[in-house]
Amino acid sequence: MRALTYHGPHKVQVDNVPEPVLEADDDIILRVTSTAICGSDLHLYRGKIPKTEHGDIFGHEFMGVVEEAGSAVTAVQPGDRVVIPFVIACGSCFFCNHDLFAACETTNTGRGAILNKKAIPPGAALFGFSHLYGGIPGGQAEFVRVPKANTGPFKVPGTLADEKVLFLSDILPTAYQAVLNSEVVKGGSLVIYGAGPVGLLCAAVARMIGVEQLFMVDHHAYRLAYAQKTYGVIPINFDEDDDPAASIIEQTAGQRGVDGAIDAVGFEAKGSTTETILATLKLEGSSGKALRQCIAAVRRGGVVSVPGVYAGFIHGFMFGDAFDKGLTFRMGQTHVHRFLPELLEQIERGALQPDAIITHRLSLEQAATGYEIFDKKQEDCRKVILTPGSPDIALPVGDGDEVGAVPAV
Ligand SMILES: NC(=O)c1ccc[n+]([C@@H]2O[C@H](COP(=O)([O-])OP(=O)(O)OC[C@H]3O[C@@H](n4cnc5c(N)ncnc54)[C@H](O)[C@@H]3O)[C@@H](O)[C@H]2O)c1
Ligand SMILES: [Zn+2]
Ligand SMILES: [Zn+2]
Repeated sequence: MRALTYHGPHKVQVDNVPEPVLEADDDIILRVTSTAICGSDLHLYRGKIPKTEHGDIFGHEFMGVVEEAGSAVTAVQPGDRVVIPFVIACGSCFFCNHDLFAACETTNTGRGAILNKKAIPPGAALFGFSHLYGGIPGGQAEFVRVPKANTGPFKVPGTLADEKVLFLSDILPTAYQAVLNSEVVKGGSLVIYGAGPVGLLCAAVARMIGVEQLFMVDHHAYRLAYAQKTYGVIPINFDEDDDPAASIIEQTAGQRGVDGAIDAVGFEAKGSTTETILATLKLEGSSGKALRQCIAAVRRGGVVSVPGVYAGFIHGFMFGDAFDKGLTFRMGQTHVHRFLPELLEQIERGALQPDAIITHRLSLEQAATGYEIFDKKQEDCRKVILTPGSPDIALPVGDGDEVGAVPAV
């Protein structure tokens, strides 16, 4: 079959690889109908995630049709159309029983991402996300093996096109968890750092729950302009304003700062040359630029919510400021399974339209081009989806607003 594989930093290509087979009684084989490229895939693509090996198949945002099911699979059957959560959870361990699916302690045979190796067993395995997270082949492929199929696959109604429900696999529940974690309420104020797919869907969710004052920080003018037009954010371009937090505070009631701050950027945050160099030299685990901005922008007693991925240590973490302001921090991989029924309901009633952020629809064969466009932010790219089995889609493209054909359901 055809699959997108890794061959070193910035080198991915679609190769012929063996088709997956059932390995456990509760596995299914899925025929992938749609898959997306995530900002998390960019960390892998740039060679920033350890234990990513040549030939690894990427992809953790995907959906499709059950092709084959193991003898112990009762939740779905061949022919069912399902979205797959990017987190692989067993559904019955201590953490799964507490709805903490990303912490599932039974699925990851890798060593996990915690530096203090003696600490604890790793959290859940993730599809297509390095051998730290289990080395499970991903779904940017024609077929994929899905373990724990009585827990993960989520049936979706045939009335909704793939692109309406595809983001249930990751970025929509991620944005939802991030906004819930921020504890912002109707009428409240929020800043979102990062206007990528996760940040944009955070803005969509914030609007849905009635957040009153919504700031968004990035340096890609086209992403900020889209967010302003679509979600009514107050945009701040950090290339033009080197202390967005200060400008935000000035505009909030009583100059106290925002109720909540979301870091939808993560460890490759731009804006601190020193940290970028130190991180490249591995003397620093992550750039703390966006995180420090969140701490600065939020009011006393507020919450900093971090869906952006972090790695290792950060020297420039303003812990004293966080203590003085009495802040709460909430973060981590998304407990995807927990949110799916309610999010599907919101999509069905039109309160959320996650597909609106898609700019590029490509075939699987064009995946490497998709990575390059998304990484370099070319053609006003916001989000790329790939449709295995569909013919190549004409490039080059226009202004990035509507590219490619709508895939058949
Ligand atoms: N927690 C989870 O389960 C989960 C799930 C999905 C994605 N993620 C993570 O969320 C993050 C965002 O993902 P995405 O798909 O939106 O990626 P993306 O790379 O498209 O977006 C990141 C955005 O942040 C902006 N940015 C860079 N430095 C900044 C700074 N200092 N201040 C403000 N903005 C800055 C970039 O210009 C870019 O537009 C990534 O770290 C990704 O790995 C986490
Ligand atoms: Zn993702
Ligand atoms: Zn579990």
